[in-house]
Amino acid sequence: MTPPVLAARGISVRYGGVQAVSDVTIEVPPGQIVGLIGPNGAGKTTLVDAITGFVKCDGAVEVAGRDVTRLKPHARARIGLGRTWQAVELFEDLTVAENVAVGIDDASAWDKFKELFVTPSLDRARITEALNSVGIDHLYDAMPTELSEGQRKLVGIARAFAGSPRIVCLDEPAAGLDTAETRELGLQLRGLAEQGMPMLLIDHDIGFVFGACDHVVVVEFGHVIAEGSPHEIYANQRVIEAYLGSSAARDEHEEGRR
Ligand SMILES: Nc1ncnc2c1ncn2[C@@H]1O[C@H](COP(=O)(O)OP(=O)(O)OP(=O)(O)O)[C@@H](O)[C@H]1O
Ligand SMILES: [Mg+2]
Repeated sequence: MTPPVLAARGISVRYGGVQAVSDVTIEVPPGQIVGLIGPNGAGKTTLVDAITGFVKCDGAVEVAGRDVTRLKPHARARIGLGRTWQAVELFEDLTVAENVAVGIDDASAWDKFKELFVTPSLDRARITEALNSVGIDHLYDAMPTELSEGQRKLVGIARAFAGSPRIVCLDEPAAGLDTAETRELGLQLRGLAEQGMPMLLIDHDIGFVFGACDHVVVVEFGHVIAEGSPHEIYANQRVIEAYLGSSAARDEHEEGRR
């Protein structure tokens, strides 16, 4: 059987007195988008930090069947574990294309790029493809100062895709995007998944997560409290109470689906 592209098993992370993540197991099968939802402070970003090697954790992480638990973040990235950051940082003096080129883990191409300040054609194609994957290839030569908040987020996502990852963890990619941009991003992510790009998708926009994901995992206080199809999660009373908080929120969600 094909192993999951990402398997994180029994992950626990403690920050001093705070147990941020407790024994969480999550798998992303090939070509699927797995959603990770939960209230603020539930441990979602910490789990991604543990998976990508930015914080120490108990448990094991495998990428395409390979144990990466002891590897540093850059080594995990080289194996194909990509991520975006909740707060996207762009280099303000570099163009959009140059910002995306930073995500290409190819030292020789990057060195050449820095020396000549001319994008090699191979990189140009990869950068264009990465920008195109989130629908912003027209911004290739733009400067970050010219971008909306939503477009800045999309550049951060394109940078992750430019590294040709096997799997990408997206931490709140729709935060800062307007309704139309969020909808468009959902369609683009679905398209990428169908072309074989698996993802772990964190977001607070439930409609966006349910629309894009094959499977959803819900965390609260560092624990998995439910998982299943978007349909099953939507019908799960405990999730509704823990996460959506009230029947009013549920009604609002119901309204949004009509
Ligand atoms: N570097 C840190 N040092 C100490 N505690 C931290 C650190 N980062 C996160 N925490 C704590 O760990 C818990 C989980 O935080 P985390 O940022 O992973 O939650 P989250 O689910 O991503 O929340 P949000 O939806 O607000 O992004 C919280 O109690 C948070 O205060
Ligand atoms: Mg977070």
